[in-house]
Amino acid sequence: MCGIVGYTGHRPAGPIVIEGLRRLEYRGYDSAGVALFDERGELYIARATGKLDALVQRVEGTLPPAVCGIGHTRWATHGEPNDANAHPQLDPLGRVAIVHNGIIENYDVLRKEVAERGGLFSSETDTEVVAHLLAEHVARGIDLLEALRLVVAGAQGAYSLVAVSVDEPGRIVAARVGNAGGIVIGHGDGEHLVASDLGALLPHTRRVSFLEPGEFVDVRRDAVAYLDAEGQPLEKAVEEQPFDAVATAKGGYKHFMLKEVHEQPVTVLDAMRGRYLLHPARVEMDGLPFTVEQVRALTRVVIVGMGTSMHAAMVGRHYIERFARIPAEVDNSAEFRYRYPVLDEHTLVISISQAGETVDTLAAMDEAKRAGCPQVTICNTPGAQTTRVADGTVFMRSGPEVAVASTKTMSASMLLLHGIALHLGRMRGTLDPEVEARQVTAALHLPVAIGEALEMAPHLQRIAGRYAQCEDFLFLGRGLGYPMALEGALKLKEVSYIHAEGYAAGEMKHGPIALIDESMPTVALAPRDEVFDKMRSNIQQVRARHGAVIAVVSKDEHALDDLANDLIELPAVDAALVPLVAVVPMQLLSYYIALVRGADVDQPRNLAKTVTVE
Ligand code: G6P
Repeated sequence: MCGIVGYTGHRPAGPIVIEGLRRLEYRGYDSAGVALFDERGELYIARATGKLDALVQRVEGTLPPAVCGIGHTRWATHGEPNDANAHPQLDPLGRVAIVHNGIIENYDVLRKEVAERGGLFSSETDTEVVAHLLAEHVARGIDLLEALRLVVAGAQGAYSLVAVSVDEPGRIVAARVGNAGGIVIGHGDGEHLVASDLGALLPHTRRVSFLEPGEFVDVRRDAVAYLDAEGQPLEKAVEEQPFDAVATAKGGYKHFMLKEVHEQPVTVLDAMRGRYLLHPARVEMDGLPFTVEQVRALTRVVIVGMGTSMHAAMVGRHYIERFARIPAEVDNSAEFRYRYPVLDEHTLVISISQAGETVDTLAAMDEAKRAGCPQVTICNTPGAQTTRVADGTVFMRSGPEVAVASTKTMSASMLLLHGIALHLGRMRGTLDPEVEARQVTAALHLPVAIGEALEMAPHLQRIAGRYAQCEDFLFLGRGLGYPMALEGALKLKEVSYIHAEGYAAGEMKHGPIALIDESMPTVALAPRDEVFDKMRSNIQQVRARHGAVIAVVSKDEHALDDLANDLIELPAVDAALVPLVAVVPMQLLSYYIALVRGADVDQPRNLAKTVTVE
C-alpha cells in the first residue's frame, strides 16, 4: 500500500525522504518517486517503476541540495505501475506536486470537468486530477492550504494527500480524509516531517501528532498549524512517543531476542512453505542441485557449522541417518579443516551459517571444495559468501535475526535438515513413503506446538527467578536431547554470563558429577523416548548429591514428579521433532535469567553476530 514521507528543515531533504521511504517498503509497492525543491526553489522530480533501488539509481548524482521534499511509494490502484503513474503527480505546468494514499472515488467526474476546461492528463491515476485542481485554485491566488481544502471538499473517498507548490518552497500541506491512510507529523528542531506511518519519522524525532479524519496540516520548517474541515485553526497536542526507531523494530518486545524467540512458529512455517507438501504428503526441497545418481552414490554426509548452527547440525545428523540412511557426522567448522579430513566426491558436505559469512565455516567449505565434495549450504542471508561457494543453498527465510544469540535461525536450520534428510531419503529409495508422509504431517503441526511451548513463558520466568543467582549450571541430554543440552548451556552462557556445561548425560559419571552440589542446578532434557529411563537414572544421581533438577519432560509426564524440583512440560510432537519444541524453553530460560541479572541480552559482551576472524 502507498507510503508517504515529507521533510522540511535545514538538512538535505533528498536522503531523508528516500531513507523514510525505505522504512515504508514493508507496506508493499510497485513504484516510487520524490519531489524536491532545489536551492533556487525549483522542483526536482524523479519517479521510477519497481523497487526503491530503481529510484535510487535514477537520482544518483542528480539529487539537488534540497531542504524540502516529499516522497511516495505507490501500490497501483488506478493505472498500471509505470513511471507516468508513479507519484508525485504534477499539474501540467509543474507548479504543484502531490502524493496520495487511498482512492478518489469520483476522480472520473472531476477529470472530465478538468478536461473540458482544457486540462491535459499525462497519467491514468485518480491522483493527477487533484494536482490539476490544486494548481487551478493556486493560479487564482488562493492559498495552498485553502486550495487543498477546496479540492478535498469536492473529492469523494477515503484518502490522504500531501502537496507542495513551487510558489512556496519549504511549505508542505496535507489532508486526511476518512480512514484510508493516516498522516503523522514529526516535530523536530528547525525541521518537521510528514509521513503515512510513525516508523518513517522515528529516526528523526519522537515528538509527533496525528491527523484525524477531516483534518489538515500546514507544515513549515519552523511551524506547524492544524485546521479542521471548516478551515478553523485546531489545537493539537504533540505526543512524545515512548518508542524510538529501534524499539519500534522490536515490535513491542523488550528485546530482539524475545521477539525472535516468539517468531519461531512463523519461522518454521516460512521454512516449510512450498517445501512440505500435502497432496500427497511429501517434501520437495529446493537448493539441492544433485542428480539421483549423485545422491545414490553418496557414502557419507558431513555437516559443519559454528555455535548454535553446529548444534542444529547435530540434530541434522540424526535426521540424515534416520531418514536418508547415509552415515553422517558433525564437525565444528574450525576443527574440521585442520584434522586432515578424508573427503571425496561421494561425501556431501552440508554447511550451516545464519550469516553466511562465518570465516571458519567458509574455510571448511573451501576445504570441501578442494576435495571435490558436493556441497549444500543452509543460510539466512541471500548473497552471502557461503551461498556463492556451495553448489546449492537452502534458504532459511527467517528474516533478519538481530539479537547476537541465534534463536529462530536454529529452528529454521533444524527444520531444513529434517526436510533435506527426507528429500535425500526419497531420492535414494531408502525412505518408506509412509514415514515421509507421517513426518510431513507432524512437521506441519509444529507452528502450533511451538506456539504452545511459547505459552510457557510465564512459567519459565518464575523458574528463572528461582535460579538466576546460581553461578554454574549443568545441562544434560541424551539422543536428540544432547544437542538441546549443548544449546541450553550455550544460550545461558551467551546472554546471562553464567558458567554452564552441556553434556551427554551418559558422560556425567565421568567427570561433571564431581561438580554437583546444592549450588549447581541441572537442566535435564528427559522427554519420553527410548532413553527416558536412563535419563531418570541420571536425574536420580544428581538428586542424590543434593543438586536441584529442572526436568524438561513430555506433556502429562508424571514419572519425575517426585524427583525433579521443577518441571517443564513440552507440547506433544512426533519424537523426531522434539528438538524444535525443546529449544524454546532453553531459549526462554536463558532470556529470563539474563533479564534478572540485568545483562545486555541482545548484545552480550565480547560476542559478535557475524564472526569474520578465525
Ligand atoms: C556467532 C553468534 C552465534 C552463532 C555463530 C555462528 O558466534 O553469536 O549466535 O551461532 O556465530 O553463526 P552463523 O551465522 O555462522 O550461523
